[in-house]
Amino acid sequence: MAVRYIGSKARLAEAILDIIGDPSKGSSHFVDGFCGTGIVARAAALRGWSVTGNDTLLSATYLADASLYNEHELDFARIGDYAAAIAELNKAEAANGFIWRTYSPASSMFCNYERRYFTEDNARRIDGVRNLIADWHERGLIGYREQALLVADLIEATNDIANIAGTYGCFLKKWTSQSEGKLVLVPRTLFPRRIDHKMNVGDVFNITTSESDTVYLDPPYTKRQYASYYHIPETIAYHDEPTVEGVAGLRPWKHIASPFCYKARALHAISDCIGRLRAKRVFLSYSSQGHVALDDLLTTLPNNGRVTVHQLGEIGRYRPNRIAAEGDASVEEYLIEVTKDGRA
Ligand SMILES: C[S@@+](CC[C@H](N)C(=O)[O-])C[C@H]1O[C@@H](n2cnc3c(N)ncnc32)[C@H](O)[C@@H]1O
Repeated sequence: MAVRYIGSKARLAEAILDIIGDPSKGSSHFVDGFCGTGIVARAAALRGWSVTGNDTLLSATYLADASLYNEHELDFARIGDYAAAIAELNKAEAANGFIWRTYSPASSMFCNYERRYFTEDNARRIDGVRNLIADWHERGLIGYREQALLVADLIEATNDIANIAGTYGCFLKKWTSQSEGKLVLVPRTLFPRRIDHKMNVGDVFNITTSESDTVYLDPPYTKRQYASYYHIPETIAYHDEPTVEGVAGLRPWKHIASPFCYKARALHAISDCIGRLRAKRVFLSYSSQGHVALDDLLTTLPNNGRVTVHQLGEIGRYRPNRIAAEGDASVEEYLIEVTKDGRA
């Protein structure tokens, strides 16, 4: 199962691309500034755009890249093939590693908390699989792409057995039936053809675009910081052993706290971000439940260019669980098109 991602545009990607349109001679490069799982970049790639994605989270760029790899750009020859690599990983020797020590009940032996993100068995499997991917990479048996793909597969498999209500912001006290299942990696269906794609890990304020690029921006629109809500995928991606804090066991994240998550800073951040882009065509996804009211965006964004609002209609937004869904109304999602006309 794909990672349940806050603000995912899984249900909107096609509608967004219907508005953005197909690549043309004048503009054929699509830049997804906040790529998350990469679902919008993938929809663009399927329509023939070459794509660049960007996100502050390494785990997000792995997920996004993994959705775009075609078999002809992957080389698993030293392991066999992609399916054989997944089969080997599913047999990897379990290890008492960082995930086991920190995020399973074994944590009570190492700190004051008994964390229940994963059963001990699954946590040891995650450590074992991640170690084996790193070992293959270090020994040159696989390269960057293959390891990014396999780590993304591990992150997705981990999501299936995590004892959480949607995100890694906290774990549940009682074990869910899924969390008691066994970690199993599943090979994905690869992208149908080879396309030009690359992903950057970094702040959207540092991306470089050209005038002819078409840029899609899907910033966070609530106070939920992705770096803390997805801290475990991030640790799996980096394969490091950070000093973690509190009952949730968060890795340090404040250095990448997003300005878009603060009500007082979000409007300026959005406008500043658009203002810095050289690209002339910019599309911004936003929601009626976001920090910034549509009216405020419509007052400020004309400083950057000509503004058109496209309603994407009411959409049931991502809810972490049934209880959250019951108390939650539909949300209006819109896509704001900013065409820079030289005023910015
Ligand atoms: C609403 S989500 C994007 C969801 C994505 N469109 C999808 O459908 O999966 C926002 C993303 O922005 C990233 N992010 C937050 N602040 C950022 C920044 N300053 N620069 C780059 N990415 C940022 C988060 O890590 C998160 O992945």
